[in-house]
Amino acid sequence: MQNFEFYNPTKIFFGEDQFDHLNQEIDTKEKVLLLYGGGSIKKYGVYGKVMSALKDHEVHEFGGIPPNPEYEVLLQALEVIKKVKITYLLAVGGGSVIDGTKFLASAALSSEEEPWKILKDGIRTTNAMPFGTVLTLPATGSEMNSGAVVTRKETGEKLGMGGPGLFPQFSILDPNVVSTLPKRQIANGITDAFVHVMEQYMTYPAGGILQDRLAESIMQTLIEVGPRVLKNPDDYEAASNFMWSCTMALNGIIQKGVPTDWAIHAMGHELTAQFGIDHARTLAIIAASHYEYNFETKREKLAQFGRRVWGINGDDDSVVAKQAIVQMNEFFTSLGIDINLSKYTDDYKGSALKTANALRERGWNGIGEHRNLTPDDVEKIVEMSY
Ligand code: NZQ
Ligand code: ZN
Repeated sequence: MQNFEFYNPTKIFFGEDQFDHLNQEIDTKEKVLLLYGGGSIKKYGVYGKVMSALKDHEVHEFGGIPPNPEYEVLLQALEVIKKVKITYLLAVGGGSVIDGTKFLASAALSSEEEPWKILKDGIRTTNAMPFGTVLTLPATGSEMNSGAVVTRKETGEKLGMGGPGLFPQFSILDPNVVSTLPKRQIANGITDAFVHVMEQYMTYPAGGILQDRLAESIMQTLIEVGPRVLKNPDDYEAASNFMWSCTMALNGIIQKGVPTDWAIHAMGHELTAQFGIDHARTLAIIAASHYEYNFETKREKLAQFGRRVWGINGDDDSVVAKQAIVQMNEFFTSLGIDINLSKYTDDYKGSALKTANALRERGWNGIGEHRNLTPDDVEKIVEMSY
């Protein structure tokens, strides 16, 4: 196992009737900005619960953060923060609202005149405005990690940021929010969390026996409860396991001491930037091609995945590994997720080169766990996913 440092200060309140914690976690002297998306929180009652828990606080609001949080919209929120002299941010929503809030937490205290530099130059955030979250969509893990991804339509960029200053102080995770999610978002959440685990697991054997088993157990749980949640979003037991699996998939624990890949996400973000495809779906599009292209280096772990997660029997690693990729694709398809790029757009033909060029321009000349996948390789992988 590799050496590691682990730090995660986010306090989690999990379960039903946790909203009153807002009142204790945020001091009444804070000026709070409640950030949200397109209005689902108002439609489905989360907003009312939050506001009633914060009845003793001065609360301002900023709504309209779109999926794949958009830089221009976030700049409008930044103006509000500065004008009203906000001191505390509260994200109420899915990954997009939480990521947008993380960007604002960083930008609010940053000395950069053009906050896009934080993303463009990969500036780590060590100091940020304090913030908490109320999660309404299990998927990204953003509620318990220190990363964020922001999109800039104007330039066609989708870039990540992070740093120890970007952990939420607390997150409220009430599995009841799952009951109002459209099936498309549930399928996205299962797929995103599943691929998060894969990015931290599907590399090469590295002696992380516990990390491997934790990763496998999260995937097994998603395979077990995913279809249950899709069929009946009111199934509280399934929803709570779905929600906690998504958080555990990307709160840092399973990646410590082992190599990580993240090439699928690097390619996927480019497909969202080009075509606006939902984040999780871009991952399902790329995953199998990535594993087939890198079959030799990933064979052992693919075979382990096949045997332990899918129960595939057989002594031949190559055969089991190939079947495991098929099973993974069948799982995504069973959730209603198309795994070919051409199912999402007619414009797919130039996208492999475009993706490779975007990485080239950024100087990302070696991605994946061995840092040896070049833009030329990326072009081939994206082409294989057409
Ligand atoms: O905007 P509203 O009206 O709230 O509707 C949202 C949105 O349209 C809706 N929704 C959320 N909760 C709901 C609900 N509808 C009904 N009932 C509820 N309880 O769902 C739609 C999608 O929301 P969004 O936040 O965009 O989805 P998700 O959580 O999947 O977030 C995706 C974003 O997170 C980034 C992605 O790139 C993408 O931009 N990621 C963030 C990561 C991180 N910070 O660690 C890691 C991920 O790999 C990912 O990159
Ligand atoms: Zn993801």
